[in-house]
Amino acid sequence: MTTMPITQAGLLPTLPGSAYTDPATFRREQERIFETRWICAVRAGDLLTPGSFRTVTVGRENVLITRARDGALRAFLNVCRHRGARLCTEESGQVRRNLRCPYHAWTYGLDGRLVAAPNLRDVPGVDRADYGLIGVALREWLGYAWVCLADTPPSFEETVIGSVTARLGDADAVERYRPADLVLGRRIDYEVRANWKLIVENFMECYHCASIHPELVQVLPEFAGGYAAQSYVGHGAEFSGDAEGFTVDGQAGFGRLPGLAEEQDRRYFATTVRPQVFLNLVPDHVILHRMFPLAPDLTRVECDWLYAADVIDSGADISASVELFHRVNEQDFAACERTQPAMHSRAYGTGGVLVPTEHHITEFHHWVTSLLH
Ligand code: FES
Ligand code: FE
Repeated sequence: MTTMPITQAGLLPTLPGSAYTDPATFRREQERIFETRWICAVRAGDLLTPGSFRTVTVGRENVLITRARDGALRAFLNVCRHRGARLCTEESGQVRRNLRCPYHAWTYGLDGRLVAAPNLRDVPGVDRADYGLIGVALREWLGYAWVCLADTPPSFEETVIGSVTARLGDADAVERYRPADLVLGRRIDYEVRANWKLIVENFMECYHCASIHPELVQVLPEFAGGYAAQSYVGHGAEFSGDAEGFTVDGQAGFGRLPGLAEEQDRRYFATTVRPQVFLNLVPDHVILHRMFPLAPDLTRVECDWLYAADVIDSGADISASVELFHRVNEQDFAACERTQPAMHSRAYGTGGVLVPTEHHITEFHHWVTSLLH
């Protein structure tokens, strides 16, 4: 008698363990995914004044984003054109007028132009215009600066905006929360010792909700069934009758953001924006995660909690509101970290299985694989 592989009994295969550990695979993902797609890099509101800057890791590059004197955001490779020193070594900061390389003092304007370089004037035939910083494509959406390292970036409308509206089923489903007008209430940085794909897959399933998210299931009881994976919350997961708001103990939140449709009230919507954003929408705030893969087994996740300006201005206590998804994050990331070491195991050499309701994770795997080959 032959034994049928378990995957033929209705379960779906996952990627093999090596997909989460292999340095060559990770390098290819950086090159073919993170260096070719639009990446949500920084919150525009973090760079309010001319001269403010922030640096982020995108693929294998370090990208510098500045607010120029004309008020626009600009992105550059954070590499001096002289001998390649990293121009800004801090993660964030503020310069008065220019960006000055600490090595030999080449000085760049906030628009990337090389404005001064000691002794270069004396060298015949050298045009400073040839040595400006290398620009990176930048778009603003939802109050974030999105950057793309590709020479010819893919359509932002199709690959970013289109993918969100396709998943949430309505072009206005996100815009009605007016994320660009919201204000950062809290940001938490998580360093997760797990491959970025484990974090995406975990976000896309709710099979684990009943076992690891007791607080979330209190507010969203349908998650206890394990079926409310992201493709199923296009309709929004309804709050429990006992929950007054999306808070850790069900206490009231901050009402409803202006402009929300009736059917968006008392519901949680979520989607991913490939490859590195998770978007969570509830009536009184928006939670947005940005992932930055740093190594096959290390991912930085920046999570922002965004509220109406009057809520933050009033000094309201947002802790019960933040605490709910902070706990969810900690529970999720602990699960991913528990999984990561076993990706090396012989037991997982040919992968594991997904239950059939997680077919959208299979679709994610196909997307990743198709970009790598
Ligand atoms: Fe930057 Fe020389 S490397 S000025
Ligand atoms: Fe989870």
